[in-house]
Amino acid sequence: MTLKTALVTGASAGIGRELVRRLVLDRSLTVLATARREDRLESLRAELPPGMVLIEPGDLADEGFRAHLWGRSMVAFQGGPDLLVNNAGIGHYGAFEEETAETLRAIVEVNLIAPMDLARRAIGPMRARGSGQVLFVSSVLGFVGLPYSAAYASSKHAVNGLVQSLSYELRGSGVRVWASCPNRTESEFHAVALGERPGDAPRRAPLAEPTARVAKSIVRGLDRRSTFHFPGRSARWVVEAHRLLPRPFDWFMGRWSPGHFKREMDRARTSTPK
Ligand SMILES: NC(=O)c1ccc[n+]([C@@H]2O[C@H](COP(=O)([O-])OP(=O)(O)OC[C@H]3O[C@@H](n4cnc5c(N)ncnc54)[C@H](OP(=O)(O)O)[C@@H]3O)[C@@H](O)[C@H]2O)c1
Repeated sequence: MTLKTALVTGASAGIGRELVRRLVLDRSLTVLATARREDRLESLRAELPPGMVLIEPGDLADEGFRAHLWGRSMVAFQGGPDLLVNNAGIGHYGAFEEETAETLRAIVEVNLIAPMDLARRAIGPMRARGSGQVLFVSSVLGFVGLPYSAAYASSKHAVNGLVQSLSYELRGSGVRVWASCPNRTESEFHAVALGERPGDAPRRAPLAEPTARVAKSIVRGLDRRSTFHFPGRSARWVVEAHRLLPRPFDWFMGRWSPGHFKREMDRARTSTPK
């Protein structure tokens, strides 16, 4: 089925913003774009052909906003979008024992509960139509763990469990539920995760993939049938290394990454103005 309409979350920055560009310019979809920062959504709408981007700013952690957003998409697209892209997500680096319950709740609400809530609303109308796609932008951290990112990695593992389960539940319905799982990507994600103020220039995380490459690859994934998709050049290798070489992988992760993330967190702590 040709996709004509999409609801994309996290459209103000990074992967989500680039996904909207690609869906509009390469696939001619009309997109309802959402995120909290209205000025960013406005500038995205202004950059793309008139009428192709609708915007609805708001906080996905707010259940009332999610209901409102879904209502808007039902009206705008007469029965709901052909494609739901659950892309919005927040990262957070920190020692797990120092996390507050509030931080843990915020991560789970945005990364898991909000996408679950939108997916549950989308699947009914899609099943009734016999077509549609629900895409979750998950992560390689939905398959592997990472020190100082325990809450984030847990939320993405849960997303992957949700996707796998729904893909079985919806088999034969015409509705495809799938996850695209990037590796490190250039975006505001790392600044947000380190508690820095995200600027307009994306922070360069070591070994990060360009946002445009990742977004292009995710859009190509719309034509595939797989439940788990690995965009860009490195994501598949990370997950395959974990699966095929578990002992060297664990050794590397336990040996190298704690020091790396600790240095990153210390640097952010000393360089971020209070
Ligand atoms: N960058 C990476 O290395 C990487 C790797 C693997 C997976 N991912 C995943 O890719 C997805 C996109 O991340 P990104 O790298 O593009 O990060 P990003 O540049 O920080 O963008 C995150 C987007 O989510 C939105 N968002 C965050 N909290 C929100 C909330 N409470 N309500 C509504 N929108 C909210 C942000 O918009 P506002 O701030 O305007 O609300 C922004 O548009 C996420 O799910 C992330 O987990 C990223």
